[in-house]
Amino acid sequence: MTQIYAHRGSAGTHPENTMLSFQEALKSGADGIEMDVHLTKDGHLVIIHDETIDRTTTGKGIVREMTLKEIQTYDASHKFSADYGRTSIPSLEEFFSWMRDTTLLCNIELKNGGYRYPGMEEKLIGMIKSFGFEKRMILSSFNHYSLVHCYSLAPEIEIAPLYSNGLYMPWVYAKALRAAAIHPSIKTINDEIVLESMNAGVAVRPYTVNTDGQIRKLFALNCSAIITDFPERAVKLRNTYKQ
Ligand code: G3P
Ligand code: CA
Repeated sequence: MTQIYAHRGSAGTHPENTMLSFQEALKSGADGIEMDVHLTKDGHLVIIHDETIDRTTTGKGIVREMTLKEIQTYDASHKFSADYGRTSIPSLEEFFSWMRDTTLLCNIELKNGGYRYPGMEEKLIGMIKSFGFEKRMILSSFNHYSLVHCYSLAPEIEIAPLYSNGLYMPWVYAKALRAAAIHPSIKTINDEIVLESMNAGVAVRPYTVNTDGQIRKLFALNCSAIITDFPERAVKLRNTYKQ
């Protein structure tokens, strides 16, 4: 059965990368949640997509130049503020404390493709281990050097390279990284890539799979998982789909 990962939570209907969005993803019946992390000036892992808080909050500033306390003074409900009220950028610790009481899987994307955040991998893996989440976690990044570093620190935690342009025989590349999966942009894949990868034992979790047509097609292929902004709709489709 194709698993459903809620992209930045239920980001199609709720403020991305917030507890509101994650709670909604759980309610929708998603199997897992995808999220993005950065590090603050005072060393906290925080859940936000961009390097700055400008697009998704009422504030302005660069995450790595702000403390957690400062960051959390701003409202992160973004374009959904009229619907759901105020919410703040969550720390990863806050999310993990909540996740502990669920059976959700989690895909953390390290947003270290631009700024490198020295020590980010160690901090993240330390926190995953302290919560005992090793088997519920997938670490992904567009920075594949970072993923190899994660693997060297904790081979028991799955890594999955993200990519957005055509990659030749991605299942071969994944194995070179010791990754158990690939996370390609939906734009880069076709049936052959999905099936060849899965036949080679490499899971495929494309992003961001939002139209009913795309979702149905990947369900029909029995693709390992999809990453979608609309987990509620995807779960409904999966419930009606005979696999
Ligand atoms: O993990 C898949 C996807 O989230 C990667 O792109 O920009 O939405 O973080 P982006
Ligand atoms: Ca992401």
